[in-house]
Amino acid sequence: MAYVVKHLPDYPNERLLVGPKTFADAGVYKINDEMALVETLDFFTPVVNNPYDYGQIAAANALSDVYAMGGKPLTAMNILCYPLKSLDKDILVEILKGGADKVNEAGATVVGGHTLQDNEIKYGLSVTGIIHPDKIVTNSGARPGDALVLTKPLGTGLIISAIKANKVFEGDEHLVTRSMCQLNKTASETMLEVGVSSCTDITGFGLMGHAYEMAEASKVTLSFFAERIPIFEDCERYVRMGLIPGVSKLSKKYLKDAITIDSKVREELVDVLFDAQTSGGLLISLPGEKAEILCTKLRERDVVMASIIGEVCERRDISIVVTP
Ligand code: CO
Ligand code: CO
Repeated sequence: MAYVVKHLPDYPNERLLVGPKTFADAGVYKINDEMALVETLDFFTPVVNNPYDYGQIAAANALSDVYAMGGKPLTAMNILCYPLKSLDKDILVEILKGGADKVNEAGATVVGGHTLQDNEIKYGLSVTGIIHPDKIVTNSGARPGDALVLTKPLGTGLIISAIKANKVFEGDEHLVTRSMCQLNKTASETMLEVGVSSCTDITGFGLMGHAYEMAEASKVTLSFFAERIPIFEDCERYVRMGLIPGVSKLSKKYLKDAITIDSKVREELVDVLFDAQTSGGLLISLPGEKAEILCTKLRERDVVMASIIGEVCERRDISIVVTP
């Protein structure tokens, strides 16, 4: 995508506070000194079997970039592609109902949308939120001495892949659905309350990919303690079963020179760290002494897996270090 963005015309606009040139997946446009718009869009093919859950997950995922920046979602628009002839209309109702309920839970409103015919179902939303122009949380604010907190377990890509291959273990679809349906709203509000230097949501590039972006943007090195990173229990089994999604393999290949991984970290666990996430959690960088406070508050507020998983160091010749 960086290749494509690089070849697009650049139309400078002083109101564009965060734009396509920073490769962020959300943009920020200033209305006045008190208010800016945060805009983002995401959609994808079904990730779980239940259409209502799929709708909720697509909405939670689309809303996530607004939360990662510390914004408040206001409105959302649906985009839905579906096979006109073969599909039961009740399924579409369920998907859109899931999306609408999740947007409502976020305190935002669905204002419309667009559908078109396609061979495969795809659903997602374009979300608009508001934020104070001076209070935008970006991925470039991580400072040496900060701690790194992750708010949801890793491994959604592996479990989705197991669901699609009909090889998922009892209970995992339920577990992963619950996690992907959870909004990053509480995580976002709590980080703003406690204090935050930098944040990103963990989606398609996996923990390592999004951490790499944060390290580069912040000009620091991120150090992770692999055994402290929350993951879904069966993930390493799915790795051994050969269920690693193609995009996760690509991230690992692409980032191999930017990351040093201690040889004592299990190979299966390494693959989970690169796993592409759908509606993943927030990776939050904040002053070290506040990290325990943040995690305690998050766990009290039903973000039960929130954990301190690493720390921010002065920039070295490598972007990320992973130790056991
Ligand atoms: Co996104
Ligand atoms: Co994002």
